[in-house]
Amino acid sequence: MTEIAIDIQDMTKRYGDFVALKNVSLSIMDNEFFTLLGPSGCGKTTLLRTIAGFEDISEGAIKLYGEDIADLPPNKRPVNTVFQQYALFPHMDVTANVMFGLLQLGQDQTTARNRANEVLEMVQLTQFSDRLPSQLSGGQQQRVALARALAPKPKVLLLDEPLSALDLKLRQAVRRELQQIQQETGITFVFVTHDQEEALTMSDRIAVIADGHVQQVGTAREIYEAPQNKFVADFIGETNLIDVSVSAVSGDSATCILPGGARFTCPAAVGALMGQGHLSVRP
Ligand SMILES: Nc1ncnc2c1ncn2[C@@H]1O[C@H](COP(=O)(O)OP(=O)(O)OP(=O)(O)O)[C@@H](O)[C@H]1O
Ligand SMILES: [Mg+2]
Repeated sequence: MTEIAIDIQDMTKRYGDFVALKNVSLSIMDNEFFTLLGPSGCGKTTLLRTIAGFEDISEGAIKLYGEDIADLPPNKRPVNTVFQQYALFPHMDVTANVMFGLLQLGQDQTTARNRANEVLEMVQLTQFSDRLPSQLSGGQQQRVALARALAPKPKVLLLDEPLSALDLKLRQAVRRELQQIQQETGITFVFVTHDQEEALTMSDRIAVIADGHVQQVGTAREIYEAPQNKFVADFIGETNLIDVSVSAVSGDSATCILPGGARFTCPAAVGALMGQGHLSVRP
């Protein structure tokens, strides 16, 4: 049976009066490539920061591998982060950047260097190991940030829009690399993006977030083929949304009356009600 890596229970995060995340419940499985997808400002980074421990939560609980982590400081959590802005140390070469965190953890020089070489090979940067960050391309710098986060073998890796600074071609290459690394290492990935194509192609499951609320959790197929509400239908893929009047709901199907008066029976979202509704028709 698969273990739950991150269990978020009815979690709310406020900044003063502003509610950034509202009653979020999510179970992210061990070994999963899990994606948080939503528009700018919806709360993706905030959610990662609460998991990493950089933000306290206002209500609810977060468990990591069954353990409540409320009182665990960030450096004691089996979690590492690749930040939205990857900050490499400019005066250290690539190897030293990757070794830094390992030395902080108390590893000796030889152990840290061996591990750094190992992860640099994994991200195909061995030949650049003695360059400074300023002597690397954006994509190469991003891979150093990834190597640095992978080096201490975290159980969970949080990735906050790690590909947003890359051009399309490079982004597609690093996407494949990331998926491979996730499969090879078995580390649970929580990946943030506002790019639906990225989410749909890379993830085992996706949580669609808007305005601090989780709108739907599911596989790419589930979210595309059975959107739970108007937001998800509109945000994912192309759709034609038609205002309808729902005259009957029975089990998982509903009868709608189209604007011209025609009746139409179609699959219904969970919890669909009679009255005004929206019909989503994919092209
Ligand atoms: N320290 C803070 N104090 C007050 N409000 C904050 C703070 N940090 C974030 N917010 C607000 O919380 C909301 C969610 O922010 P967050 O950074 O999580 O969004 P996001 O989904 O990561 O967006 P983006 O895709 O642009 O990175 C925003 O409205 C933001 O202004
Ligand atoms: Mg963000």
